[in-house]
Amino acid sequence: MSGYALPQQFHHPELQLVRGEGVYVFDAEGNRYLDAASGVGASILGHAVPEIVEAIRAQAATLAFAYGGLVDNDQRQKLAAQLQEWAPPDMGETRILFCAGGAEANEGALKLAYQFHVERGHPTKRKVVGRWQSYHGNTIATLSMGGRTVARATHQPLLLDFPHIPPPYPYRHPGEDLARAELLAKVVSQEGPEHVAGFIAEPVVGTSMSAVVPDAAYYPRIRAICDDADLLFIADEVICGVGRTGLRFGIEHWQATPDIITLGKGLSAGYSPLAAIILAEHVWRAIAEGSGHSSFGNTFGGNPLSCATGSAVLDIIERDGLVARAGEVGGRLRSALETSLADVDSVGEVRGVGLLLGVELVADRASKAIFAPEQRVAERVVAAAERRGVLLLAGIPGLIDGVGGDHIELLPPYVIEEEHTEEIVEVLPAAILEVMDEVARAKR
Ligand SMILES: Cc1ncc(COP(=O)(O)O)c(C=O)c1O
Repeated sequence: MSGYALPQQFHHPELQLVRGEGVYVFDAEGNRYLDAASGVGASILGHAVPEIVEAIRAQAATLAFAYGGLVDNDQRQKLAAQLQEWAPPDMGETRILFCAGGAEANEGALKLAYQFHVERGHPTKRKVVGRWQSYHGNTIATLSMGGRTVARATHQPLLLDFPHIPPPYPYRHPGEDLARAELLAKVVSQEGPEHVAGFIAEPVVGTSMSAVVPDAAYYPRIRAICDDADLLFIADEVICGVGRTGLRFGIEHWQATPDIITLGKGLSAGYSPLAAIILAEHVWRAIAEGSGHSSFGNTFGGNPLSCATGSAVLDIIERDGLVARAGEVGGRLRSALETSLADVDSVGEVRGVGLLLGVELVADRASKAIFAPEQRVAERVVAAAERRGVLLLAGIPGLIDGVGGDHIELLPPYVIEEEHTEEIVEVLPAAILEVMDEVARAKR
């Protein structure tokens, strides 16, 4: 350990960054790294963007803080109006709540979904069905909804008894997406619909499955099942929202409208802690016409500094057409990766949409056999890429069954240029081959 701030891996030395500029970050020795992970999906516009820096400076000099539990502020209303404009039209006239992080937003979504049912006279509808290999945050309730085995393991006795269904996974279970959606109906029937408040999913899965994109029929079927059983469909767009997939919200790739959307990460482009909950009209109206009160409150939610940051981010995205750009650049990057990784035997699949991309690594392409988890292949590939100056994310272990499966996630900023995609396309195969070489040598 090198300092007083505790890293997540106590004994693992971490890259210490001191500066960022555009799509690059720099360590104390002046080494430059291409931030192809946007930190962790947050720095979507790159670092030190002058307009955002100026918006933050101006707001800090005007009104940095106002407590949302007592007073309103103009920046909170401005950002809410922008998000209402952004929200899928079928959600009706939305209302927005703000907080500081994705977990807080998802925990708020859970509380509001439950409250929605209570207000309508159904107080037993309290469980939220989640999916395995999903992540909604690191608090107890969000870990309970999430299906990331490694994250749940240490706190298992504290978790809530929420059910989970397997995720769609076309690479390993082709043609089964619809059957997997059907499992929601089964679980709800087994739990009793009178006990289930909602269903939560990352429309395009982030770091737990690296960019799995279900087929076109999946979410419409999920929507229909939610309607039949009076469940709210919560779309966790903390990673896939704010334009990353080439549409404003990941769920817009399907004909399915959520009741609640949560956002985080890219909403402030990483410049300030900021997250949001978007409530469809029928959801907030049920509460407004009932108790007219929400217990969702927190010190930093809707603070003017973060909201002004979020507004500046959305303004830049709109001005520069960055949602469409994420789709186009992402499509080109994906094709280039498919080509450059075609002859790398340990690449099972390149997948994803827009700038939410993933690479699944396998010990054998034909059988899709996985590497032994203790080989930590994905982690080593990411380390090898870092040595070559490109930052990527190692997918969370447990992709297949909670234990095994290696995958790499790419979440580049929306502003990457041709030269940056070329750098990624060159470095990733080299990093994979370096590790495969080590793995082969260790076998001999
Ligand atoms: C899909 C998804 N939801 C929620 C979260 C939690 O967000 P936060 O870390 O801001 O609490 C994350 C973070 O990685 C995420 O990827």
